[in-house]
Amino acid sequence: MAYRPAALMGLGSYLPPWVISNEDLAAELDTTDEWITTRTGIRARHRVSPGTSTGDLAVEAGHRALKSAGLDAEPGAVDAVVLATTTPDHPCPATAPDVAARLGLGPIGAYDISAVCSGFLYALATASAQITAGQAERILVIGAETYSTIINPADRTTSVIFGDGAGAVVLAAADDSGQPGVLLGVDLGSDGLHRDLISIPAGGSRQRSTPGEPDPDGRYFTMQGKKVFAAAVARMAESSTSVLDSIGWTTESVDHLVGHQANARILKALAKQLGIPEERAVVHLDRVGNTSAASIPLALAHAASQGTLTPGSRVLLTAFGGGLTWGSVALTWPDVTPA
Ligand code: UT7
Repeated sequence: MAYRPAALMGLGSYLPPWVISNEDLAAELDTTDEWITTRTGIRARHRVSPGTSTGDLAVEAGHRALKSAGLDAEPGAVDAVVLATTTPDHPCPATAPDVAARLGLGPIGAYDISAVCSGFLYALATASAQITAGQAERILVIGAETYSTIINPADRTTSVIFGDGAGAVVLAAADDSGQPGVLLGVDLGSDGLHRDLISIPAGGSRQRSTPGEPDPDGRYFTMQGKKVFAAAVARMAESSTSVLDSIGWTTESVDHLVGHQANARILKALAKQLGIPEERAVVHLDRVGNTSAASIPLALAHAASQGTLTPGSRVLLTAFGGGLTWGSVALTWPDVTPA
């Protein structure tokens, strides 16, 4: 197989039906709707019921993305499944093989990507590289999370922010780089020196989870919000500029900025730093909170279904998360109907 670009050709999303409002949280925690709305822009988030896993959400979103791409879920539909998640069904094995099997996609390559909130863009970069290298024709790329399973429900600094959900795209080999949907530029970065700003301390080989440990809460997700806020704006702005420069787009020419949906104030500061009018930033977090690796495909599905993203418009994706990790992708929007 020869070198060719990879293009987005299908888009699907799935949110679990249980919605938690700010008022619901204020009834249980020392917080208010006013604080959450003004400090984050979030009004509601979805949560899975006990027993529902990340893989369950990924299967739903994957099914919809295949349908949107006009593909039946059957062997031969895609050549690989790449699943970005911070909340796999199990520490071992990866969740993607189970998702591929449940979708009936046959014995194809399937693997998880762990880059926290940047995971979906890392997964897109990896899948796109497989296609351009000629290793695959079509790949199902999913971002799925159940943060409700790793958040300390008593921690108001994280439990008001995160939500559960899944989004997915089908990437396919394109004839030429002028085809709408082609990923024109990709930028990825990391800074492991600041790994402690976002972490789940226990449960890995560094700090095993054993009953009776002095820090039983080490299994919960932790985030140093203020420091993360500043780094998120700076790194996403740098990465965005880098990817735009690499393909010769100016910031003024970007029609839609689809940033990681962590905080409305971050999106606003990012748009300002880039010199992109604020109204070009897609905002979806008010309905779903921060869904980590699912946030970009969920925001894309929302904006496309609202008619905000129109075929041919210039779209900049950028994300930031634990690791620290960050990344950006630029594409022109294809004629795709989200499912
Ligand atoms: O997804 C990966 C990337 N993640 C992000 O990008 C998240 C980045 N960080 C943020 O979005 C913000 O830092 C937060 C939303 C997490 C926090 O907002 P903040 O404006 O940075 O607040 P803060 O942490 O500085 O806290 C301000 C005050 C504190 O009280 P004192 O010390 O001033 O008395 C907090 O204890 O707000 C308090 N606070 C709350 N009050 C009511 C913190 N959480 C809450 C809450 N309700 N839920």
